[in-house]
Amino acid sequence: MSVDSGTCAILTGASGGIGQALLRELLAKGANVLAVARSPEKLDALFAEISTAKRKRIQVVRADLALPEGRRAVVSAASWLNTAPNLLIHGAASSSFGLFAENAAEEVGRLLALNVTSPLQLTHDLLPLLRESPTAQVVAIGSTFGSIGYPGFAAYCASKFALRGAFEALAREHHGESIAFLYMSPRATRTDFNSPEVDALNETLGNRVDSAEYVAAEIIKAIDHNQRRLQIGWPEKLLVRLNSLLPGLLDRGIASQLPKIQDHARGVRVRPLKPQAVD
Ligand SMILES: NC(=O)c1ccc[n+]([C@@H]2O[C@H](COP(=O)([O-])OP(=O)(O)OC[C@H]3O[C@@H](n4cnc5c(N)ncnc54)[C@H](OP(=O)(O)O)[C@@H]3O)[C@@H](O)[C@H]2O)c1
Repeated sequence: MSVDSGTCAILTGASGGIGQALLRELLAKGANVLAVARSPEKLDALFAEISTAKRKRIQVVRADLALPEGRRAVVSAASWLNTAPNLLIHGAASSSFGLFAENAAEEVGRLLALNVTSPLQLTHDLLPLLRESPTAQVVAIGSTFGSIGYPGFAAYCASKFALRGAFEALAREHHGESIAFLYMSPRATRTDFNSPEVDALNETLGNRVDSAEYVAAEIIKAIDHNQRRLQIGWPEKLLVRLNSLLPGLLDRGIASQLPKIQDHARGVRVRPLKPQAVD
């Protein structure tokens, strides 16, 4: 299924770095988009730069997806669309970086709720609408850290491993049906998602960091090809495979990075997920 003027997409995390880049791509291809954002005002600059015709193809829903009422607002807005949605992209997520022992336990729970429970529940509640289309796709934006457990990111890794597992199960459960489940794994990407400490760690380790525009273009390409799984970037594609076949190799490689990771992670707590008022 190619993204085109027949696409009716629901995009969560639309106000984020990758989300805004995806929104631009979707609009450029003629799609109509229900853009879900906790802070829609972050979309103002994008609205100012796009044509009125494109603006008319966006409907914004303000929703805190960590809350049941936020998810209900999305389902309710989706049920009022002129056309049944045929593309659901889960982009909303929160990050964590820090030594696990220093993380506040409740922050870990909240991260798992937003990154795992929320996309699964939203998928569940939108399935009847998605099934109204002859074909539909549900896309999870995961992470390389959904395939490689990495020090300093225990809760985030747990959330993305879980999301990957859920999407693998869903893809297999719905095999041969009109609905497809795709899992996309960006590597480090230049957005506000990463704290200054993570940016500093990436620089120290010489990790490549992609632009949000590049990541969005790769994701849209994968959607166009109905590609089940996408890992973005070398050497990450190779490292993910090695980690699955020969995890001891990565154990040793990552152990050699550990002192640097600990230097950056020490004293950094999970960034609080700010509760926000929702209309
Ligand atoms: N950036 C990276 O290095 C990287 C690497 C691999 C994978 N990823 C994945 O890519 C996806 C997008 O990341 P990004 O870099 O674009 O992050 P970002 O710029 O921080 O955007 C995150 C998005 O999630 C939304 N969000 C956060 N909490 C929410 C809540 N409680 N309810 C509703 N929406 C909420 C944010 O909305 P508001 O801003 O309106 O609060 C924002 O739109 C995430 O799934 C992330 O795990 C990112």
